[in-house]
Amino acid sequence: MYIYIANIENTISYEHFKYLLSIVSHKTKERIIQFRFLEDAKRTLFGEVMLRAIVIKHYGTSNDQIEIATGPYGKPYIKNLPIQFNISHSGKWVMCAVSNNTVGADIEQIKKIDISQIIHYFNQKEYEYILSQVPELRLETFYKIWTLKESYIKWLGAGLSISLKSFYFSFDNLKITINDDAARSKKPYFMQYLIDGHIISICCSVDNFPFNITEVNINEIQISR
Ligand SMILES: CC(C)(COP(=O)(O)OP(=O)(O)OC[C@H]1O[C@@H](n2cnc3c(N)ncnc32)[C@H](O)[C@@H]1OP(=O)(O)O)[C@@H](O)C(=O)NCCC(=O)NCCS
Repeated sequence: MYIYIANIENTISYEHFKYLLSIVSHKTKERIIQFRFLEDAKRTLFGEVMLRAIVIKHYGTSNDQIEIATGPYGKPYIKNLPIQFNISHSGKWVMCAVSNNTVGADIEQIKKIDISQIIHYFNQKEYEYILSQVPELRLETFYKIWTLKESYIKWLGAGLSISLKSFYFSFDNLKITINDDAARSKKPYFMQYLIDGHIISICCSVDNFPFNITEVNINEIQISR
């Protein structure tokens, strides 16, 4: 598995932005030019650019071989290659995880929020687990569970058709276990990373997570058309 991350706050020249637009799919390009805010355009653009950069570099394909389609609940996938990916963005970061196996990824910026308003959406067991933490750890624990839940939902690819209460996570030191009564499929594996005040959770069908996440400078990405 490869995980790349890019910072949307890095300045990008108009020429490079235009060049990157020319290497993503026509559908993505159409979506990007509809965005009202440049930050949103950069999030979606950088996500697909990183995907293409990883696939070309590590799987030895060319850009025009990468055809992206969308599943029934909106999960994008590569149509013609046995390569899986998932993208997530939050705050200034965009992340892309690529694997030979099904993957779900989520990144969230840890913001000082009142978790008592949202915690009720989680499973009762998670709710109790968060409240069992000392007050200083509750916010981070909340975000850890939130991103795990989101990565699992994105791994399943079924979007908001899955109830957040229908499954829960339990923790035994570093081991993260998913408990899902629906037993929808083989239990996946999870990994978490903390980067610059953001929590990242990755869910994958196999346990081959990288030790590190690779930060890329989008200005340095050159892909032949
Ligand atoms: C779309 C969804 C998959 C994730 O949305 P999100 O957290 O706002 O967005 P993220 O930044 O993590 O991910 C966005 C990317 O996921 C991908 N994606 C879109 N639909 C997807 C789906 N059904 N499954 C997996 N990935 C999907 C796309 O690549 C998208 O990037 P793009 O918009 O640049 O094309 C959806 O599950 C959702 O809205 N979930 C919210 C569930 C919730 O209420 N969570 C609260 C805490 S658990």
